[in-house]
Amino acid sequence: MFRKCRLYLLVFLELVSVNEALNNGLALTPPMGWLTWQRFRCITDCEKYPDECISEALIKRTADIMLDEGYLEAGYNYVGIDDCWLEKERDDNGRLVPDRNRFPNGMKAVADYLHEKGFKFALYQDYGNKTCMGYPGVLDHEETDIQSFVDWDVDYIKLDGCYVDTAKMDDGYPYFGKLLNQSGRPMVYSCSWPAYQKKPDYASISHHCNLWRNWDDIQDSWSSLSKIMNWFAENQDDFAKYARPGQWNDPDMLLVGNFGLSLDQAKVQMAVWSVLAAPLLMSVDLKTIRPEFKEVLLNKDIIAIDQDSLGKQGLRVWNKSNCEIWNRKLSDGSYAIAFVNKRDDGTPYAVKVSFDTMRIPKQTYEVQDLYKEEQPRSVGPEVDFETRINPSGVKFYKFIPKSSNDVNTAT
Ligand SMILES: *[C@@H]1O[C@H](CO)[C@@H](O)[C@H](O)[C@H]1NC(C)=O
Ligand SMILES: *[C@@H]1O[C@H](CO)[C@@H](O)[C@H](O)[C@H]1NC(C)=O
Ligand SMILES: *[C@@H]1O[C@H](CO)[C@@H](O)[C@H](O)[C@H]1NC(C)=O
Repeated sequence: MFRKCRLYLLVFLELVSVNEALNNGLALTPPMGWLTWQRFRCITDCEKYPDECISEALIKRTADIMLDEGYLEAGYNYVGIDDCWLEKERDDNGRLVPDRNRFPNGMKAVADYLHEKGFKFALYQDYGNKTCMGYPGVLDHEETDIQSFVDWDVDYIKLDGCYVDTAKMDDGYPYFGKLLNQSGRPMVYSCSWPAYQKKPDYASISHHCNLWRNWDDIQDSWSSLSKIMNWFAENQDDFAKYARPGQWNDPDMLLVGNFGLSLDQAKVQMAVWSVLAAPLLMSVDLKTIRPEFKEVLLNKDIIAIDQDSLGKQGLRVWNKSNCEIWNRKLSDGSYAIAFVNKRDDGTPYAVKVSFDTMRIPKQTYEVQDLYKEEQPRSVGPEVDFETRINPSGVKFYKFIPKSSNDVNTAT
C-alpha cells in the first residue's frame, strides 16, 4: 500500500516537473548571431584550410569583425560553434573534451573571449549517442555534460537529434530542459526535436524550448530556400501560432553572403525570415563577405521587423502565378508586407492587389520600402496597391497607419 502510494507520488512529481515550462526569461525576441555550420560545416583540417576550420581562431576572428564592423551593435550577439568541436572520445571521467588542436585553450577560454567583447556563447550538442557528424552525444551523460556547459559559461545550447529514437524525444527534450533549468545557469535552449518527427507536438515543444528547428537543414541554394519557404507556408497553421516572446520557430540559418544566392535572393531570405520572426543566425565568412550582402544583413529597419516586440509570426497570405504575399502584424499597428516573385521570366513582374488580398485593414498608410529602392508613398484602400518585383526577388514594405484624422474607419 505504502509502496503503491509512493509510486503514485513519484509519477505525479515526474508529471509536474516535466510539465514545467522552460520559462528562463531568455530569447524574448528571436535570437540573432552567427553560427559555424552552414558555411564551415565540418572542416577540421586546419593545415589545409587554416581560415575555415572549426577552431578557436575562427571564432575569435569572427567576433572581432562582428564587433568592429557593427554586427554586434545591430543585434547579432550570439557567436556559436555547431558540430565538430569535440574529440572523438570522452576523458577518463566521462567528460566531453573539445578538440585539443583546434581548441587548445578549451571552451572556457572561448567563452571568456566572447564575453569580454560583449557577445554570448552558443554551443552545439546532440541528444543521441552521437552528434550528426559522429562525435560523442549527450545521451546517458546529460548531467555531466550540462555541468561542463556551466563550467564553460555557455549561454545557448543547440541540441540536435541524430542517433536518437525519435519516439523518445517527447520525453527526452523536456528532461534535458529540466536539467538545464536545474543547473541554475540561464541557457537558451534550441531544440531540433520537431525536425525529426512526422507529427510534432508543438504545444509541448513550444513549452519546453526557446526555439526549435521545424524542418530540413537549409543548403546554399535558391531551390533549398524556396523549398523551406513553401514548407513553412503550407504548414503554417500547425505551428505559427506557437511563436511568441521566448519561443520561436526556426527555419534555419541565413545563407546571405555565401555562394548560392544572388543579391535579390538574399534579400528574399532576409525579408521572409523577418516576417516569420525567425532567429537571424548568419553563417558566412565575415572577412570576405561582399559589401552589398553585408548591407542586407545590417539593414536596421528589417532587423527591427524581425525583432518586433509583439513576437507574432507572420503568414503567407496570398500565392498566385508564382507570386506570394507574406504579412506580419507589428506592435505599433503597422504591417510588414513582403511580395516575393518566384517566377523566372526575365522582367520585373507587376502585381496589383486589394487591401483584402494583402489582409490589412482598410485605412490610409504611409508605405516605406524597407530596402529603400522606392520613395515612401501614401496609399488608401480605394485604389489597388501596385508594385513590381524582380525575378526571384522581393519588395518589402512597412505599411504604417496614418494619423486617425486620415483614417477611413471601414475595415
Ligand atoms: C545508443 O547506444 C545504446 C548503448 O550502446 C544502444 O543500446 C542504443 O540502441 C543506441 N541508440 C541509438 C538510437 O543508436
Ligand atoms: C528555472 O525555472 C524557473 C521556474 O520556471 C525560473 O523561474 C528560473 O528562472 C529557471 N532557471 C533557469 C536557470 O533557467
Ligand atoms: C502556391 O504555392 C505552392 C507552394 O507552396 C504551390 O505548390 C502552389 O502551386 C501554389 N498555388 C498557386 C495557386 O499558385
